[in-house]
Amino acid sequence: MKTLKFIGIGAVAIAGVLFLMSSRAQTAAPAAPDKMTINEIQKTFSPVDLNHKDHVEKYKNKCVDCHHEYKDGDATVKKCSACHDPAVKKDKAPALKDAYHKACIDCHKKEVAAGKKAPTKCMECHPKKK
Ligand code: HEC
Ligand code: HEC
Ligand code: HEC
Ligand code: HEC
Repeated sequence: MKTLKFIGIGAVAIAGVLFLMSSRAQTAAPAAPDKMTINEIQKTFSPVDLNHKDHVEKYKNKCVDCHHEYKDGDATVKKCSACHDPAVKKDKAPALKDAYHKACIDCHKKEVAAGKKAPTKCMECHPKKK
C-alpha cells in the first residue's frame, strides 16, 4: 500500500512537471508590440492603428486569424509584405492593400453582424484623408 501511494504521488509530480514544461513551450510565441501603426503602403489614406494586444487578449482572436501562415511553435512571424506584394497579386496572394482589407474588414463585418462594434467604414480606420 505504502509503495503504491508513493508511486502514485511520484506519477502526479512527474505529470505536473511535464505539464509545466509543455505549457511553457506553448506560450513562447513571438512577441509583437502592443500597439502598432500600419503604414507600409499608405499614400492617399492615413495610416491605420491596430491595437495588437486587445485583438489577441480582449477580442480573443487567434494568431492564425491574421497570420494565416503561422503555426504554433514557429519561432518568428513573417510580415504580410513578405508574401503580399505592395502593388500586384502574386502566386494567388492578393496585393497588400487587398490582403489587409479582406483580413480586417471581413472579420469586422462578422463582428458587427453579431452585434459588436468594429470599424468597417473607410474613415473609421483611415481617420484622415491626406
Ligand atoms: C478595418 C480597417 C480598414 C477599413 C475599414 C478600411 N481600410 Fe483601407 N487600409 C487598411 C489597412 C490596414 C491598410 C494598409 C495600410 C498601409 O500599410 O499603409 C489600408 C490601405 C488602404 C489603401 C492603400 C494605401 C493608400 O493610402 O493609398 C487605400 C487606398 C485604402 N486603404 C482605402 C480604403 C477605403 C476607400 C476604404 C473604405 C471603402 C477603406 N480603405 C477601409 C485598413 C482599413
Ligand atoms: C487582428 C489581427 C492579428 C492578430 C489576431 C495577431 N496579429 Fe500579430 N500582427 C498583425 C499585424 C497586422 C501585424 C503587422 C504585420 C506587418 O507589419 O506585416 C502583426 C505583427 C506581429 C509581429 C511582428 C512581426 C514583424 O516582423 O514586425 C509579431 C511577432 C506578431 N504579430 C505575433 C503575433 C502572435 C504570436 C499572435 C497570436 C498570439 C498574433 N500576432 C495575433 C495582426 C494580428
Ligand atoms: C508566407 C507567405 C504569406 C504571409 C506571411 C502572409 N500571406 Fe496572406 N496569403 C498568402 C498566399 C500564398 C495567399 C493565396 C493563397 C491562400 O489563400 O492561401 C494568401 C491569401 C491571403 C488572403 C486572401 C484569403 C482569401 O480567402 O481570399 C488574405 C486576406 C491574406 N492572405 C491576408 C494576409 C495578412 C493580413 C497577412 C499578415 C498578417 C498575411 N496574409 C501574411 C501568403 C502569405
Ligand atoms: C478575427 C477578427 C478580427 C480581425 C481579423 C481584425 N479585427 Fe479589428 N476588431 C475585432 C473585434 C472583435 C473588435 C472590437 C469589438 C468590440 O469592441 O467588442 C475590433 C476592433 C477594432 C478597432 C477599434 C477598437 C480598437 O481596438 O482599436 C480597430 C481600429 C481595429 N479593430 C482594427 C483592425 C485592423 C487594422 C485589422 C487588420 C490588420 C483588424 N482590426 C483585424 C476583430 C478583428
